Amino acid sequence: MARRLNTVLEHVKPSGRDTEDHEHLKQHLLIQSLAAQMHLSKDRLKEMALYMLHEMHHGLEPNNSSTLRMLPSFVYKADPDRSAGVVYALDLGGSNFRVIRMELAKGTVLSRRAHKAKIPETIIAGGTQTQLFDFIADTILIATKKFGRAEEAREALRLGFTFSFPTQQHAINSGSLIRWTKQFKVSGTEGNDVVRLLSDAFSRKKIGFRIVALCNDTVGTLIARFLNDSTAMSGVILGTGSNACYWEKNSRILKCREAQSKPGDGEMVINMEFGNFDSAKMVVLPATKYDNELDAESENAGAQRLEKMISGKYLGEIARRVIVDFAKLNVLPNALADRLKAPYSFESRFVGTCFADRHPGLPDTHDVFKREYDIDIAHEGHRRILRTICRLVSNRAAQLAGMAIAAVLLKRNAQADATVAVDGSVFEKQPYFRKCMREAISAVLGDAEGVRLVLTTDGSGIGAGCIAALQE
Ligand code: BGC
Repeated sequence: MARRLNTVLEHVKPSGRDTEDHEHLKQHLLIQSLAAQMHLSKDRLKEMALYMLHEMHHGLEPNNSSTLRMLPSFVYKADPDRSAGVVYALDLGGSNFRVIRMELAKGTVLSRRAHKAKIPETIIAGGTQTQLFDFIADTILIATKKFGRAEEAREALRLGFTFSFPTQQHAINSGSLIRWTKQFKVSGTEGNDVVRLLSDAFSRKKIGFRIVALCNDTVGTLIARFLNDSTAMSGVILGTGSNACYWEKNSRILKCREAQSKPGDGEMVINMEFGNFDSAKMVVLPATKYDNELDAESENAGAQRLEKMISGKYLGEIARRVIVDFAKLNVLPNALADRLKAPYSFESRFVGTCFADRHPGLPDTHDVFKREYDIDIAHEGHRRILRTICRLVSNRAAQLAGMAIAAVLLKRNAQADATVAVDGSVFEKQPYFRKCMREAISAVLGDAEGVRLVLTTDGSGIGAGCIAALQE
């Protein structure tokens, strides 16, 4: 149906002389076409979950070609009560960077302070690794001063480094960046050990911290929850980027010699890097022309195709591309095509605002376009189309995220009783996201009563601190 409608729409050219009936029909067809491509049926979700399970199994084997990296984290199920002392954690994964100081005793966080700094766009979009890691070190010096503990920066305190990009770890405290994601483009980093790059910056700035743990934000989030909840099975981030990790049996991690050599039936956290799911052949992902164009123009074309359908970095951009296209086809005001022509100029939070607009006349949708783009969307019909676009983009993201979580639970046969620790702005701030995710989980699992989605705010940094506090 979607293909047929697309063919029809190729012939629906913009025209200033459309009659009202003609215009309504065009609007209807365009929205229907988009909905047909974006809505995922139960069967479609099950099919995708099945393929994800296949890729998970495959990704745990040595020398595999799975699109899921399934990266060993070297974080084993340990008694969290052993974590104790003063530790620092660094959280790097988006445009904001955080330094956290924590004091722990018997696995309980006694005190916590945090300092946040925005990473200059010039570094993110084209800086060098020295600039990035010097910025991190300088921010640590500012943070310790702010905490009234300037002297601590010179001490050999333990530090956990949350680095939220695909990283091939060799041990708990070393790992090479495979490839930047989320539009980061910092030279001299890919292929290098980020712990070494950070400790070089520490030497330059005379910082004494010992980097005892490196972890992904999903891993930090899972561990932060696991400290108080032994049913925590998976850590999920739905923010600027998207990803999940989960506890896997050591015996199943065929590609990791260390895990294989552990006695007993222990478990290690696996960082799935699910954002890259199905990127090689697009076997099951529902890509529209908007997704394909967004991907082609991104910093990492051909990679992270699932992430580009569900994350905060991209949701606004997908919606923007649809809006501009619809405006060019004359079913939305032409001015939109001009005002929204710059890539990434429609923020993901606006998708949430428009989708959540349930008031008569859709005043919030009107406000977003008036306030941010100085366009008066005078016709309610147009406001309704804008809202529908945002709903379709957001719903599809939530369905895909739910499908991925269901696959993880199926992998561990944990669907009857499991906590999934989730963090990230898309999950937290986009209204209806959680509800739609739950529906998708139920669609795949049948019954999802025993699945608890728990918001674990700031888990990535806290978890890194806890992991550091478990190390010598
Ligand atoms: C990265 C993951 C990370 C996720 C959420 C993705 O772009 O590849 O490592 O966990 O974003 O921050």
